[in-house]
Amino acid sequence: MSRILLTGAAGFIGSHVHNALIAAGHEVVAVDVMLSAAHGPAAPVPEGVHRVDVRDGPALDHLLTGIDVVCHQAAVVGAGVSAQDAPAYASHNDFGTAVLLAAMDRARCRRLVLASSMVVYGEGCYRGERCGRADVGTRRREDLDRGMFEHRDPATGESLTWDSVPEDAPLRPRSLYAASKLAQENYARAWASATGSGVTALRYHNVYGDDMPRDTPYSGVAAIFRSALEAGRPPQVFEDGGQTRDFIHVHDIAAANVAAVEQPLPDFVPLNIASGRPITIGEVASILAAARGGPAPEVTGRYRPGDVRHIVADPERAGHAIGFTAQVDPVAGLSKFAFAPLRSAAATGAPLV
Ligand code: UD1
Repeated sequence: MSRILLTGAAGFIGSHVHNALIAAGHEVVAVDVMLSAAHGPAAPVPEGVHRVDVRDGPALDHLLTGIDVVCHQAAVVGAGVSAQDAPAYASHNDFGTAVLLAAMDRARCRRLVLASSMVVYGEGCYRGERCGRADVGTRRREDLDRGMFEHRDPATGESLTWDSVPEDAPLRPRSLYAASKLAQENYARAWASATGSGVTALRYHNVYGDDMPRDTPYSGVAAIFRSALEAGRPPQVFEDGGQTRDFIHVHDIAAANVAAVEQPLPDFVPLNIASGRPITIGEVASILAAARGGPAPEVTGRYRPGDVRHIVADPERAGHAIGFTAQVDPVAGLSKFAFAPLRSAAATGAPLV
């Protein structure tokens, strides 16, 4: 049994982690700042959660007494809708992590489990039959406008297919959110080496499940499709629907956090947390539409300029390092998600500093 400080405990992922840690017999001190962008302006603080901002060092000093491990889920999420979101990401995610790490040092707390994200990689890994492994940049607008969505080898023009992404792949964040997640990792890595502590950074792939926030500009695609179907509208599939991702159920994310808490690792260890069963966005839309009995998805050919084409994890390392293997098959999990409860749409505003 460990004594754990859990941050972001009222959020979509944090509340599932909270339940799983308690079910595994741990003692949890749960905190959340209850950001109105995530919870709405007057949301009550859930039972068993203290309203605390991770940027408040003195409040953390009080709570960190006797804590063995910090499980840090608190963050402003989403891809970032405009440049105006940058200060909120930097303040809550990066300054917040810096304040937390300093407080952990004062309390001699030497273990951190950090919620990171596959967004730190930017684009996934690619290969071509003739050119082998290829390093890709940003897709060209002219190609996207012509419906050429796959990456091509710059030298030969050959169309490339995805390869799975290992943890030592280059880190090239492409959004404000991704920049803030990588900065969190960098602070945690430096803290681990300066203090002789252990950090396990869990790079979540595309998370879905009960209580996911509804359709907002900051939501993931599973909730957007799910909300459209509920309203009787067809899911709008961007590009040609062939974009590949790894969808992992929030119960598996919670189990990965329990495994990371229970398995101390030295230094800084990043781990892909993924189902290991890649799926295209077109398939995600079809599974959800079929489960709800329609309407059928519309493949629009539209695109979001900053989107990556494919990002598929290699989940092996988490199995070796912390004994974590995902249990929920994405086809079964997404079919069930078609009718899962979602969080209310009360909170749709941009995050504030
Ligand atoms: C998402 C998150 C990111 C998170 C990561 C891992 C957002 C905006 N992005 O990145 O913050 O860290 O997962 O969990 O929360 N799409 C459609 N139709 C739509 C909306 C999206 O076809 O209505 C497509 C997009 O073009 C993209 C794919 O769905 O190809 C996935 O989009 P999204 O859910 O935003 O996820 P990621 O970009 O993978």
